[in-house]
Amino acid sequence: MELTEGLRTRHSMRAFLNKAVPQELIEQILAEAHQAPSSSNQQPWNFCVFMGKPLATLRAKLLQAHEQNRTPYDPSKGKTIPAEYVDRTRKLFKALRPCLQQLGEENRAFIETGSLRLYDAPVAILMTMHKNFPRSRFMDLGMAAQNLMLAAHGRGLGTCAIGLALLYEEVIRAELLISPEFDCALIMALGYPDESSPVNGFRAPREDLSHVVRWIGVDGKG
Ligand SMILES: Cc1cc2nc3c(=O)[nH]c(=O)nc-3n(C[C@H](O)[C@H](O)[C@H](O)COP(=O)(O)O)c2cc1C
Repeated sequence: MELTEGLRTRHSMRAFLNKAVPQELIEQILAEAHQAPSSSNQQPWNFCVFMGKPLATLRAKLLQAHEQNRTPYDPSKGKTIPAEYVDRTRKLFKALRPCLQQLGEENRAFIETGSLRLYDAPVAILMTMHKNFPRSRFMDLGMAAQNLMLAAHGRGLGTCAIGLALLYEEVIRAELLISPEFDCALIMALGYPDESSPVNGFRAPREDLSHVVRWIGVDGKG
């Protein structure tokens, strides 16, 4: 797949086929994720790949923890995010609704429990970083994560980044034996997308580019 096409067509997949992903393919994808740039070339990312029984156990424990948790999910952790960004989430959920209605699902439940089920993907990859790195170095992990998503997409695989599962980071740490020296950054669900699921045909809207770009000293702009 041509790079530009890959960049424009990648989107999150939230339904996967029950089909194993060959380990060799996962290794190729990780090798390409590992090509990401990083500050001083320190490559601060670590990938923990899990599937099969350990993945099934984690999935069950995440769902169990969520059932016991009465705290509403608050991705902004109490900080006030400017209204225009909150509005983008509202638009996302509004756009998603017709798709989920076809599945007989309700937005919040689908995203919350779906995320904790890691959308039933056959493979999950936890990205971690040593806790002594400054938080700004999560940038490096973001770049590796994007490489991973594009590498997978280029091979006909789908991904969904799952930050919500980190609500239960302690559960993840315990199940995957993550050292206290490392921070958990993101879980990536990976697998062959179920193309027949309406949710995978969904494209999240983007704001007009003019809302996020400022031009300075460019003729006719600014
Ligand atoms: C850091 C990060 C965390 C995310 N966490 C979740 C999640 O927990 N559950 C989910 O369904 N999607 C999650 N997503 C996917 C976003 O909702 C998605 O990327 C966004 O709506 C844009 O859609 P697209 O990826 O299809 O272009 C996450 C994406 C990122 C980058």
